[in-house]
Amino acid sequence: MPMAPVVDAAYLKSIDKARRDLRALIAEKNCAPIMLRLAWHDAGTYDATTKTGGANGSIRNEEELNHGANNGLKIAIALCEPIKAKYRNITYADLYQLAGVVAVEVTGGPTVDFVPGRKDSLVSPREGRLPDAKKGTQHLRDIFYRMGLSDKDIVALSGAHTLGRAHPERSGFDGAWTEQPLKFDNSYFLELLKGESEGLLQLPTDKCLLEDPSFRSYVELYAKDEDAFFKDYAESHKKLSELGFRDPSSLPAGSGCEVSTPTVLVQGAVGVVVAAAVVIFGYLYEVQRKSK
Ligand code: HEM
Repeated sequence: MPMAPVVDAAYLKSIDKARRDLRALIAEKNCAPIMLRLAWHDAGTYDATTKTGGANGSIRNEEELNHGANNGLKIAIALCEPIKAKYRNITYADLYQLAGVVAVEVTGGPTVDFVPGRKDSLVSPREGRLPDAKKGTQHLRDIFYRMGLSDKDIVALSGAHTLGRAHPERSGFDGAWTEQPLKFDNSYFLELLKGESEGLLQLPTDKCLLEDPSFRSYVELYAKDEDAFFKDYAESHKKLSELGFRDPSSLPAGSGCEVSTPTVLVQGAVGVVVAAAVVIFGYLYEVQRKSK
C-alpha cells in the first residue's frame, strides 16, 4: 500500500518552489497544453466504484504510457523529470497535478485550488479508461460518470480544449480547436457554436456537446459568460485533480479515513488532544491545590 506523503513545512516549501519552476518551464517551452493533458490523463483513469486509478502518478509507468490514448505524453513526463529530481520529497502525483493547475494559470485561465498530499502508485489500470474521441454521448457519460463526475463537469472540462492541438502522429486528428491555442479563455465554446470552420478542429466528442440538450445548455452558458465558465472550470478541474485523493479540509471531523488522511491532519488532531489534556490537568491541579 503506497504511503501518503508527509505534508509538512518542507513539503509545502518544495511545492511552492516546484510551482515557480513549472511556471518558468511552461513559459520557456510553451508546453502548457501537453502539461494539462498529462494531468488529465493521470487523473482520468479513476473508477469511483473500485476506487482504482486516479491522480496517483501511475501514468509514468511504461505500460500505461504506452496506452494509445497517452501517445505523446512521454514528452510531458520528461519535462517534469528535472523538477522531480530537484524536489525529491514531492510525489509524482502531486507534481503532475500541479503542472496542470499551473498550465491553466499561466495561459490566463482561472486559479484552480491545489491541495498537496497525493500518493504515488505503481499500479496501472487496464487500457480503455480514458475517452475515445471517435465515440458519442453515451460513451462520454459512461467514462465521466465512472469517475464520479457530472454533465456540468464534462462540458466545463471539455473547455480545456481552448488550449493546444491534436497531432496526427499522436491521435490521428489534426489541428487546434481555437485561433489562440496558448490562451485559456471561453473561445472553445464560441467556436463550437459556430460549427466547423476552416482549419479548426471539432472531435466527434466535442460535437456531442451540441447535440445533447443537457450538455448544450452549458455550452451556451459558457459561450456567453466567460466568468461562469471560469468558475465552473476551476471547480471541475479541482475535482478532476483530486480523483482518488481526499482533500483533508473536506473531511468531516472524526470521519476515520485513516488511509487517505494526510499526516498533517493527524498531527493537528494530536496537537488538539494534547492541548486539551494540558488544560484539563492544569485545571484539576489548581482545584486540588485550592482545596488543600
Ligand atoms: C471529453 C473527452 C475528451 C476527449 C475525447 C479528448 C480527446 C483529445 C484528443 C484526441 C486530443 C489530441 C491529442 C493529440 O493528438 O496530441 C486532445 C488534446 C488535448 N486535450 Fe483532450 N479530450 C477530452 C477531454 C479533455 C479534458 C477533460 C482535458 C483537460 C481538463 C483535456 C485537455 C486536452 C489538452 C490541453 C489537449 C492538447 C494537448 C496538446 O496540445 O499537446 N481534454 N484531447
